[in-house]
Amino acid sequence: MEAERKPISVAELPGVGPSTAAKLIDAGFTTIEALAVATPEELVAIGIPLTTAQKIIKTARQMLDIRFRTAKEVKLERMNLKKITTGSKNLDELLGGGIETKTITEFFGEFGSGKSQICHQASVNVQLPVEQGGLSEDGKPAKAVYVDTEGTFRWERIEQMAKCLGLDPDQVMDNIYYIRAVNSDHQMAIVEELFSLVPKENIKLIVVDSVTSHFRAEYPGRENLAVRQQKLNKHLHQLGKLAEVYDAAVIITNQVMARPDVFYGDPTQAVGGHVLYHAPGIRVQLKKARGNKRIARVVDAPHLPEAEAVFAITECGIRDPEE
Ligand code: GTP
Ligand code: MG
Repeated sequence: MEAERKPISVAELPGVGPSTAAKLIDAGFTTIEALAVATPEELVAIGIPLTTAQKIIKTARQMLDIRFRTAKEVKLERMNLKKITTGSKNLDELLGGGIETKTITEFFGEFGSGKSQICHQASVNVQLPVEQGGLSEDGKPAKAVYVDTEGTFRWERIEQMAKCLGLDPDQVMDNIYYIRAVNSDHQMAIVEELFSLVPKENIKLIVVDSVTSHFRAEYPGRENLAVRQQKLNKHLHQLGKLAEVYDAAVIITNQVMARPDVFYGDPTQAVGGHVLYHAPGIRVQLKKARGNKRIARVVDAPHLPEAEAVFAITECGIRDPEE
């Protein structure tokens, strides 16, 4: 029998009895990683006494070796933060070198602005070796998960992008795990599931395209805004944990409709609110320009310059524009 490396389950955590384990599992805390980044309040909320909650989290952190680092170590880590190339030097530069791990990057913009194309391209590019802007190391392929909520994923496009990079298209497609999320609960359950798939399969990129469509359809209108945002926040929180714990990049997309007929505040504001408003990450606005050109702008990122970048969507995928 082949011993498969599987994540340690909460039931194996020292000091956790069967009834506590059941509560944790019910609430989605199925792995040590999930517990290590939980807050005591989250565990108290599911009926675990505070002191037990604190003990569980402490033990989980020890098992994962989460510890203080010196400022120098933080500096080195920041400098060595891994990045995935978008395929366009202009866009990479705007993002401070590419799409970062341990971060949620949100691309928002109107239909056809290139959100899904960037998701496809990143799913291919993550598989490149580090020297070429990917995250594959020591012959170990970095893989991607593509959570599709709108049914717009196209394997043909992946194949085409892979060929253009001189990669084996079949191999590239083998390394992208695709799933269609049928509703918002399913979408959230998928992310829970990822806490075991991501480490097992060396997944370094998680795409959710689009992160908002189900939430908007199921919780329409202003009267449902509070519930919708609460659910979305929980979802983003889980995605942020995945990124942080497994050193993976997370890309989410968010369609923004241009509605010149309606004035409620900032016309560039994403319908359904700024999804990343309360979550750490980078927000990138995409706009259509002439022909296959698109303009990207980073918003609300104090560490990145207020600048724009022009990129193109070509037959081969995301590239710098010619000329
Ligand atoms: P919504 O999901 O509708 O909000 O749009 P989006 O922002 O995801 O747009 P998407 O990334 O799907 O961009 C669509 C655009 O990419 C199209 O208008 C085309 O210009 C371009 N595109 C898509 N597929 C191809 C392709 O196979 N070849 C080329 N050359 N361009 C493509
Ligand atoms: Mg799309």
